[in-house]
Amino acid sequence: MKKSYSEITAYVKELAALSCSNNNIKPEMYNEHNVKRGLRDLDGNGVITGLTEISHIKAKEKDGTPCEGELYFRGYNVKELVADFNKSGRFGFEEVMYLLLFSELPNREQLDKFKETLAEYRSLPQSFVRDMILKAPSKDMMNTLSRSVLALYSYDDNPDDTSVENVLRQCMQLISVFPLLAVYGYHGYRHYHLNKSLHIRNPKPHLSTAENTLHILRKRGDFTPLEAQVLDLSLVLHAEHGGGNNSSFTTHVVTSSGTDTYSAIAAALGSLKGPRHGGANVKVVNMFDHMKNSINTKSETEIEDYLVKLLNKETFDNAGLIYGMGHAVYSKSDPRADVLKQCAKDLSAEKGRQEDFQLYETVARLAPQIIGEKRKIYKGVSANVDFYSGLIYKMLELPYELYTPIFAISRIAGWSAHRIEEIQNNGKIIRPAYINVKEKKQYVSFDER
Ligand code: MLT
Repeated sequence: MKKSYSEITAYVKELAALSCSNNNIKPEMYNEHNVKRGLRDLDGNGVITGLTEISHIKAKEKDGTPCEGELYFRGYNVKELVADFNKSGRFGFEEVMYLLLFSELPNREQLDKFKETLAEYRSLPQSFVRDMILKAPSKDMMNTLSRSVLALYSYDDNPDDTSVENVLRQCMQLISVFPLLAVYGYHGYRHYHLNKSLHIRNPKPHLSTAENTLHILRKRGDFTPLEAQVLDLSLVLHAEHGGGNNSSFTTHVVTSSGTDTYSAIAAALGSLKGPRHGGANVKVVNMFDHMKNSINTKSETEIEDYLVKLLNKETFDNAGLIYGMGHAVYSKSDPRADVLKQCAKDLSAEKGRQEDFQLYETVARLAPQIIGEKRKIYKGVSANVDFYSGLIYKMLELPYELYTPIFAISRIAGWSAHRIEEIQNNGKIIRPAYINVKEKKQYVSFDER
């Protein structure tokens, strides 16, 4: 007899309980077996798993003392790149992509040619928007992105060729169309799930990635120079973060199996979607929205009380976390958060949102001490890249649904560089070991159970 939905749900609940009760791996066993949980040692330092030339993160001096965080793309300090972009008022993301992919800074001619090629690639196969993006609109744009990336495999005449030339072509095409996949996916969601009008606008060849993203997203396609500049800087800062961050490591792992570019990038997207990785920027904004509704005067004492409650799992999502604070590698500061803080400040002045900025700044100042006391973290914590990016996206009036996809629109540059680096330097499939801790059992035949 056909089972009802609630009967099936109750059965699945029972099976889940069975699965949990049969899981006998205790936290202390990881130490007993000397397993580096999360591929990190007891101090939280990552286990060395590869070599890269793409970027370098500095968070400690040679003697191990924590220092202000520094980030280098192909040997160049990101803060110096940003300072030069700001000084000349030029967009930096395309230049950074060139640097990450080809390991050298482009001159004007090289950059123009690269941008022209990206503009050529910035279109989707005929009917792709209708057939692939709008057909089954998802409420999660990271899901739409992964699905679209996998579907693009079918439109590629040479999908499985993993030569550097072919992979580079595929990566440049994906880099170009990522804003379209994410933003059109959002328009589809708005139309079919929220009953709003549907507008699909074509990108313009002469616009930068940041400008095009705002152009195809906004109802009238318009934006201020500061808005485009701030989004561009955010793309610059999110583009790359070493081989060890979860999505870039995923790119290495999946690439090492010899699979195609679409599969590797879809896997990286799946990783970035997680709230412990790229999904954190949405959590930060949700947490601040909740905080603003929960406190009246916004006095420092009230804010402190709220932060303590967060850590005590007594408020917001009861996870015991202050989202946007702390990082696996950085301790004293995340250089990207420093730059984004200034962007958030400038934008808050243009938008008349100084009060919001002040609240973020106060939390960034108070939280490290509270976390340090409560969690006994001696390495120190500070605001990370997700802390101010959410506020910036909110002031740019980007929908929450696009916060993590914006991260992806940028990070695909790093993933592409890592995929190519893996192909060039590693002939081996990544295959770490797991220790089996289940004892052998005497088999019981089906009739005797
Ligand atoms: C990133 O940019 O990928 C995040 O900061 C996470 C990380 O580096 O592990």
